[in-house]
Amino acid sequence: MRAKIVMPGGSGFLGKCAAHYFYKLGYDIVILTRGKSKIINNIQYLNWDGKTFGEWTKHIDGSLAVINFTGKSVNCIYTPENKKEIIESRIDSVKIIAEAILQAKNPPKVLIQSASLAIYGDTKKVCDENAPHGTGFSVEVCERWEKEFFKENLPHTRKVLLRIGFVLGKNGGALETLSKLTRRFLGGAIASGEQYISWLHIEDLNRMFEFVIKNEDAIGIYNATGNSPSQNKDFMKALRKALKKPWSPPVPVFAVKIGARLFMKTDASLALTGRNCIPSKFIREGFKLNFDNLEEALTDVLK
Ligand SMILES: NC(=O)c1ccc[n+]([C@@H]2O[C@H](COP(=O)([O-])OP(=O)(O)OC[C@H]3O[C@@H](n4cnc5c(N)ncnc54)[C@H](OP(=O)(O)O)[C@@H]3O)[C@@H](O)[C@H]2O)c1
Repeated sequence: MRAKIVMPGGSGFLGKCAAHYFYKLGYDIVILTRGKSKIINNIQYLNWDGKTFGEWTKHIDGSLAVINFTGKSVNCIYTPENKKEIIESRIDSVKIIAEAILQAKNPPKVLIQSASLAIYGDTKKVCDENAPHGTGFSVEVCERWEKEFFKENLPHTRKVLLRIGFVLGKNGGALETLSKLTRRFLGGAIASGEQYISWLHIEDLNRMFEFVIKNEDAIGIYNATGNSPSQNKDFMKALRKALKKPWSPPVPVFAVKIGARLFMKTDASLALTGRNCIPSKFIREGFKLNFDNLEEALTDVLK
């Protein structure tokens, strides 16, 4: 019998890719979505609301692993309503998944939470898992999210939280936005270009999920990112090269702020801030990245 992995919020950028990765490895996949229940390419989508019990709880019982991807995208303008939804979608789903696991006769062996490196704030200092937290709205979201995740004791389920970096993958994530701009000859460094991008190839992220599922000693918080963070100016240079586009002038702060709000409908802080993180715990525990070179990773994703 194929072991089952349940992926709440798995209908998005990271979840879809993880679902296909694990399906190919021989697992059954159930994605929990606020959308309609359906089966697409052998992946089962099951309706839930992200905050109350329903049919979906039966699938938690007897599953091998749960990987929670749920959360309103942070790629939006930070209005009071959006901020509320960003926080509540994360806290509510963490809470109800823990309750479902507590009620299961055969609880999953491991619960993996997708979280974010944004907890370290805007910093150029190298951050491993023990680095101090930053300040601001994104940090507050991460702190509340993580506190909720570790609150409930699940006696039979390992808890692993991945603070995920800037994921390089096809059809989604921030790379899609930066690639569109670069294709339109707007791929210059953003502001000073000195802010760090802690990037990782999506294949390595999926391998990290696999690593923590299979390694029974894996527990607690991990930085899920590559080992070679780049400053924005170097990242944009590598992206222009991968897309065969010429040099573009840097984009000043005021233009980023106006462009983000009016054209991208997002918060400029996503482009203007950054962090310099390394996956210390993964490396210590023997994980090997397949992609450590930015140009190779971008060329592979954009081919
Ligand atoms: N992508 C990255 O590079 C990255 C980096 C660091 C951390 N993360 C974190 O990893 C998680 C997954 O990222 P992603 O890029 O795959 O995000 P995504 O594409 O936005 O997918 C998240 C999923 O959450 C569900 N969702 C959205 N709003 C919700 C709400 N109000 N209530 C309940 N469910 C809601 C949606 O599923 P339905 O509409 O089907 O219900 C959506 O498909 C997120 O928590 C994100 O913050 C991502």
